Amino acid sequence: MAKLNLVVGSMLGAAEYVADHVASLLEQAGHQPKIHNPASLAEVLAEPDAILLVITSTHGAGDIPDNLLPFAKDLADQQPDLNALKYGVIALGDSSYDTFCQGGRTLDRLLAECGASRIGDRLDIDVTQHEIPEDAAEAWIHDWMALIA
Ligand SMILES: Cc1cc2nc3c(=O)[nH]c(=O)nc-3n(C[C@H](O)[C@H](O)[C@H](O)COP(=O)(O)O)c2cc1C
Repeated sequence: MAKLNLVVGSMLGAAEYVADHVASLLEQAGHQPKIHNPASLAEVLAEPDAILLVITSTHGAGDIPDNLLPFAKDLADQQPDLNALKYGVIALGDSSYDTFCQGGRTLDRLLAECGASRIGDRLDIDVTQHEIPEDAAEAWIHDWMALIA
């Protein structure tokens, strides 16, 4: 069973609901998720054995939500060695923007640049297609859990 740090980026609450739902599904499967909102990079780095799961929306024009900005900035500035870290990304966005799910894409890139290894594909949830984003996340997390078992 895995320890997981769920790092949340949300302005209006949708990504928070997804994080809560995913955390309860992970718990039901016997894993140990912990939600970080707002997240501190230092806290996450203190647990290198835990898998990181970023769950973030996008705001502005492709921007990371305010509550996740310090985490992303520290990652970009400090460039920690994350070779031992495994992670996943659930991105929420609206496909009518050119910058669809750019917040999640940026976190994905920053983590990969620091050497972290992504487990499975990133999930990009188009909120225009999924009235309840938790449903899309639920389908994805079941497959993802098979990869972390
Ligand atoms: C002002 C504003 C700007 C947005 N900009 C983007 C964007 O650039 N790219 C994108 O994919 N979605 C964008 N969205 C859509 C949000 O990411 C989407 O509604 C998401 O579900 C919000 O999640 P949250 O409630 O957790 O913040 C924007 C939404 C708002 C209200």
